[in-house]
Amino acid sequence: MSSDKHNIETLIRNRRSINRFKPQPVPTDVIRDAIDTAVWAPNHHLTEPWRFYLLGADTREQVCRLNAELVSAAKGEEAGRMKLEKWLQVPGWLVVTCQKSNDSLLAKEDYAACCCVIHNLSLVLWLHGIGMKWTTGEVIRADRFYDLVWVDREVEEVVGLIWYGYADEDPVSTRRNAIELTTELP
Ligand SMILES: Cc1cc2nc3c(=O)[nH]c(=O)nc-3n(C[C@H](O)[C@H](O)[C@H](O)COP(=O)(O)O)c2cc1C
Repeated sequence: MSSDKHNIETLIRNRRSINRFKPQPVPTDVIRDAIDTAVWAPNHHLTEPWRFYLLGADTREQVCRLNAELVSAAKGEEAGRMKLEKWLQVPGWLVVTCQKSNDSLLAKEDYAACCCVIHNLSLVLWLHGIGMKWTTGEVIRADRFYDLVWVDREVEEVVGLIWYGYADEDPVSTRRNAIELTTELP
């Protein structure tokens, strides 16, 4: 038990967002199994609001082109071209959505549960030697993005566009000591 505890602490501290990947793809079974573990996230009322969309080659390319178009419009054609080149290198793509609710408290709690699922997924994948990055760039809010991933935005909201694959970098990150952010009350 204590060694499991040590392992999970190490896993949480060592996991990093990965931005550069080796070209070889992660087998789809591995990502499917990781999702199946990730859904054991805490979830008030067990609404299971998360939905997952694994993008195939055609959809990925269209998402990359849509993003490049948005970047070109905002920052110029050269920026869009460079973005397209970079995005086309990413081997694994997943979209996680949250089912919408008219009840604002439920909607907030469901969104929180989806965030827990995504972090669970990142930890499970990391355990299997796979890195990922959770992205929330402008593209995920575009109507055309919803159309590309077959999501009805009246029914679901995109929580993250996830890149995954075998890391081709070893990034470092820092955190403040949480003690500075913690208040102990009598
Ligand atoms: C809700 C959310 C949205 C994020 N969106 C982006 C993004 O759009 N682009 C990006 O490069 N990283 C994004 N990230 C990753 C963060 O930049 C990353 O977690 C942060 O730099 C800390 O690094 P670490 O995950 O390696 O600890 C996002 C993370 C979260 C939780």
